[in-house]
Amino acid sequence: MEHIRKANNQDLPYLYEISLKTALSGLDGTDFFFDPFCVGHYYAAPYLFFEPDLCFVALNQIEQPCGYIVGTSNTEAFNKWMQETWLPPLRAQYKNRTQFKCKSEEQIISLICKGPGEGIWEHVGYPAHMHINLLPDLQGKGLGKGLMLTFFDVLKEKGVSGVHLGVDGRNTHAIGFYEKMGMTILKNLQWGTIFGKHLD
Ligand SMILES: CC(C)(COP(=O)(O)OP(=O)(O)OC[C@H]1O[C@@H](n2cnc3c(N)ncnc32)[C@H](O)[C@@H]1OP(=O)(O)O)[C@@H](O)C(=O)NCCC(=O)NCCS
Repeated sequence: MEHIRKANNQDLPYLYEISLKTALSGLDGTDFFFDPFCVGHYYAAPYLFFEPDLCFVALNQIEQPCGYIVGTSNTEAFNKWMQETWLPPLRAQYKNRTQFKCKSEEQIISLICKGPGEGIWEHVGYPAHMHINLLPDLQGKGLGKGLMLTFFDVLKEKGVSGVHLGVDGRNTHAIGFYEKMGMTILKNLQWGTIFGKHLD
């Protein structure tokens, strides 16, 4: 049976693979990136290094990770660590890149070179943030809900007041899912929506 467990270091290649295969508003980005690792470099792997107890994987019937939730309880500290520790070696690698296979690749490499901004949601009651992705075979089986509830439970144990996330406006499936999970819209932006949830 499909199930969920805490992520470990050996799951790292799967995190990279899943992030690439869900990179384009939830759809497969495999053919659209020169560098198959840039998505995971920014949106998946750093969380496993920074706060591994908030990373979980969903396994298929042969125990292979085919989905994950990753995040942090402290976005401000995470962003500082990204700027000072995680991103500098990647900037050295990407700083001269001028060719991109698609707009998303350009945007992600630009994010890597710029780093996360100061943000505001962590200061108004939503200090945690997260990313969730499941490969198509594992979608629609309750695993997304299971990953979110598991993640929320750990945040509550840590005494965290709330969580936020950003979703591309084109990803209407994920938007419906987040609404179903009790998240509310904090802000609509040009590229998408910021959702938040207080954890009581
Ligand atoms: C979005 C995603 C995480 C949802 O996970 P999932 O496993 O497919 O969703 P679940 O099966 O756990 O659904 C949980 C509940 O939400 C409901 N739901 C799911 N999608 C919904 C939608 N678009 N609108 C309304 N309800 C929805 C389900 O019916 C289910 O309801 P129930 O608890 O009453 O049975 C998953 O489909 C996914 O990873 N998609 C591709 C990557 C992606 O887009 N990630 C988000 C990037 S921001």
